[in-house]
Amino acid sequence: MATTPDARPERGKARENQVQTIFSEIAPRYDLLNHVLSLNIDRRWRRKAVSRLDLPTDRPARVLDACAGTYDLSLELARRKGFQGEIIASDFARPMLVEGKGKLDQAPVRPICADTLRLPFPDASFDAAMVAFGVRNLSDVDAGFREFARVLRPGAKLVVLEFTTPPNAFMRWGYHVYFHRVLPVVGRIISGHPWAYTYLPESVKEFPGPEALADKFRSAGFQAADWRYFTGGIAALHVGTR
Ligand SMILES: C[S@@+](CC[C@H](N)C(=O)[O-])C[C@H]1O[C@@H](n2cnc3c(N)ncnc32)[C@H](O)[C@@H]1O
Repeated sequence: MATTPDARPERGKARENQVQTIFSEIAPRYDLLNHVLSLNIDRRWRRKAVSRLDLPTDRPARVLDACAGTYDLSLELARRKGFQGEIIASDFARPMLVEGKGKLDQAPVRPICADTLRLPFPDASFDAAMVAFGVRNLSDVDAGFREFARVLRPGAKLVVLEFTTPPNAFMRWGYHVYFHRVLPVVGRIISGHPWAYTYLPESVKEFPGPEALADKFRSAGFQAADWRYFTGGIAALHVGTR
């Protein structure tokens, strides 16, 4: 499928506007599309991501879910047996936060409309941070990691779940067919948005690979950053220690 001009990931401020516009416009259909298009595999990935947070056990934890969208990652943690504390779910597309609110019920999740590159929180104020499918959309990924490093206390974990391009040629072929042929068409039909689901594979294509992303953790001040592929390399989970 040819890339429409609007679907190409922009740079700088134009990228911020592009991303904010996309997610504000697709918010009402985001959850439906997420689960249809991911065939629910994302649930398992989220479970594994939350397991790596390494939260304090002697006191309630304060956890940041950045680029939280409609709260699926926040809720994965909030519903976990034994979780005690508060999850601050931040996103700059207000319609996403509003759309997901019905799912929150009594969960200890506090939504905040904020830009991940300018988080309105003091230094060292979180016990852990997590981001699912958000980092790829940042106009400046390095600045995002510096901001996570700033708000995390020493020793805290940053867990990042993101799509990647599979290393294996056969998987890459299947992934290419699905992401570049099937997903834009199904996404367009269900969301009614002409190019949001063409932007998605385009943004994955230009995003750094897992090794380069691990380097970004280290450059931002994380002591250690390990990573692993999920589902043949469609996605990767990175864990950094502040
Ligand atoms: C693909 S969605 C992921 C939502 C959710 N984390 C999930 O797993 O379903 C990406 C989200 O990142 C948000 N986002 C992207 N750039 C952002 C930024 N600079 N500041 C805050 N939110 C941002 C978008 O508004 C969108 O809701």
